[in-house]
Amino acid sequence: VIKTRGLALPPSECKVYTPTALAKAMVAVVGREHRQWLEPSCGKGVFLKAIRDRLGARAQATGVDLDPIQASADKLGTVLRGVDFLDWSRTQKKRFDCIIGNPPFVAIRSLPPSLRDVAADVRTLSGDPIGIRANTWYAFVLQSIRLLKRGGSLAFVLPSAAEYANYSSDGRARITSEFDRVDLIRSRRPLFESVQEGTIVLVCRGKGGLGNTFRRHLVADVNAAIRRLGDLEGAVAKQCPPPPPAQTDRFVRLDEVVDIRLGGVTGDARYFVFSESKRKELGIPRSSVVPVVSKSHHVASGALSSNDWESLRNGDERIWLFRPTPKAVHNKAVSEYLELASNSGGCRRQNYKVRNRNPWYTTPLPSQVDGFITGMSDRGAWICFNETDDVNATNTLYVVSFKDRLGRQSRYAWGLSLLTSPARQQIRRITRRYADGLSKLEPGGLGGLHLPLPPRIPNAVSVYQDAVRHLMRGDERTARRIADDAIFGASCVCSRVS
Ligand SMILES: C[S@@+](CC[C@H](N)C(=O)[O-])C[C@H]1O[C@@H](n2cnc3c(N)ncnc32)[C@H](O)[C@@H]1O
Repeated sequence: VIKTRGLALPPSECKVYTPTALAKAMVAVVGREHRQWLEPSCGKGVFLKAIRDRLGARAQATGVDLDPIQASADKLGTVLRGVDFLDWSRTQKKRFDCIIGNPPFVAIRSLPPSLRDVAADVRTLSGDPIGIRANTWYAFVLQSIRLLKRGGSLAFVLPSAAEYANYSSDGRARITSEFDRVDLIRSRRPLFESVQEGTIVLVCRGKGGLGNTFRRHLVADVNAAIRRLGDLEGAVAKQCPPPPPAQTDRFVRLDEVVDIRLGGVTGDARYFVFSESKRKELGIPRSSVVPVVSKSHHVASGALSSNDWESLRNGDERIWLFRPTPKAVHNKAVSEYLELASNSGGCRRQNYKVRNRNPWYTTPLPSQVDGFITGMSDRGAWICFNETDDVNATNTLYVVSFKDRLGRQSRYAWGLSLLTSPARQQIRRITRRYADGLSKLEPGGLGGLHLPLPPRIPNAVSVYQDAVRHLMRGDERTARRIADDAIFGASCVCSRVS
C-alpha cells in the first residue's frame, strides 16, 4: 500500500489499464445520446478519451481516481484526483446517464482501514453491507448502479469472479431486474496482456426498464469481445424471471447449522473394523460390535436405511466396529481377540490413538449421527442421511450432526441447499485435487461453505433423493437444477445461460 499526502492508495497491481479499442467499443455500445458520463476510477483516462472521440465536447464527463497523479486526459472532463470514489458516491447528488470503466480488483480486507471501512459498508441490492470478504469491484458496480439516472446505462470491465464469487451472488440474482437488458461478455483469453485473471465485460442498459433480459456471450479473445460489443443488438437475450425473494438470498455458514466431524478414529482399522463373516469366524457376539459404514461407497446415496446397511452386511463389507463393553471382555471369544498378538492379527496397541485411550479397545464415536459425508469423491459433497437407529461411521467418513433438532423434511432441505449452484461452486474451490486424480474435501472447508437458507419444502425428502440419484449417475447438472428449483423456485437464467 502506497501512502500519498495522507491518502492511502490500493496496491499498484490494481492499475491495469484498458486497451483503447476495447474502451472505444464500450463507449459506443452505451453512449449513443448520453450527455452526463462518469468514469469512477479513470486512471490515465482511456475512457475519457474514448468519450471525447465519439461524442465530442457535448458529452460532459466526470472522472474520479484515488491516484493523485494527473494525466493528460484530465483536461477532457472534470477529473477529481486523490478521491475515493466509494466515499464520494455516498454523498453525491448528481445522477449520470452513463457510467463506464474498469474498477479496481482488490480484496476489501486488504485495503488500508480508511478505504476498507467505506467499501465494506456499501450495500448490496438487497440492502445488506457487502462486508470485508467482498472485492472492491463489486462495491464500484453497486454504487454506480445507484448513481445512474433512470434509463441510464453502464459498461464495466470486471474480473471473471463476477460470475461465480459468493460475495456477489446477491448482485447476480438481482441485476437483471434493475435493467432493461444485461449482457455479459466472457473472453476465453485474458482481455489484458499483463493479467492472467479471466475478465468479462458487463453491459447493463436501460436502468428501471422492464425488459429484464440477459445474455451471456462466450468469445475467444479481446478482438472477438470488441466485435461482439458492436453487434449486441443482433443477439437475442432471454427474459429473466423476477429475482428470488430476499429470504432465499440469505446465506448461512454450514457449520452454523451442523457439526461435521470424523467418524470413530480406531487407530488400527485392520483390527477394529471387520465383516460379518470375520465376526462369525471370531465368534464375537453382536453385543461387542457396533454397526458402522466405513467406505465411501457405503454412503453413495441420499440416505442409508437399515435395509441398505443389511445389504452391505450380506455383501460381506466391513461394517462392524469391534467395541466391547468392559463387561463383555469376559466373553471367551472377545477376550481371546483382545489378547491376540499384533503379529497374529491382534491390535497394534502402540499406535498413537490406541495407546492414548482408556480402555484401549473403546473407540470414541460421535453420539448423534444424522448423516454421513465422504470427503473422497469426485462427485463433490452431499449428505447421505442416516435413516437407521444405530449405524455409526469410522474415520474414513465424516459424520453430520444437526445443531438444532430439526424435522426430517427440514434436514433434507439443508441437503438440497448443499446441492445448489452456489454451494457447488464453492465446493469446487475447496476441493483439493491430488496428482493421482484423487479429490479431497476437509471438514473445516465444508463447514465454511455458505449455503442458501432453505425455504419450507414439504416434499424435501423425495426431491433430495431424486437429486442425489442424478448426482450418483454423474449428472451433476440435473442434480443442481433440481436443488436450485427447490431452494430458489424458478431460478434465474443468468446462472445458467452460456
Ligand atoms: C484497473 S485501473 C483502471 C484505470 C482506467 N479506468 C482504465 O481502464 O484504464 C483501476 C484504477 O482505479 C483507481 N482506484 C483504486 N481505488 C480507487 C478508489 N477507491 N476510488 C477511485 N479510484 C480508485 C486506481 O488508481 C486505478 O487508476
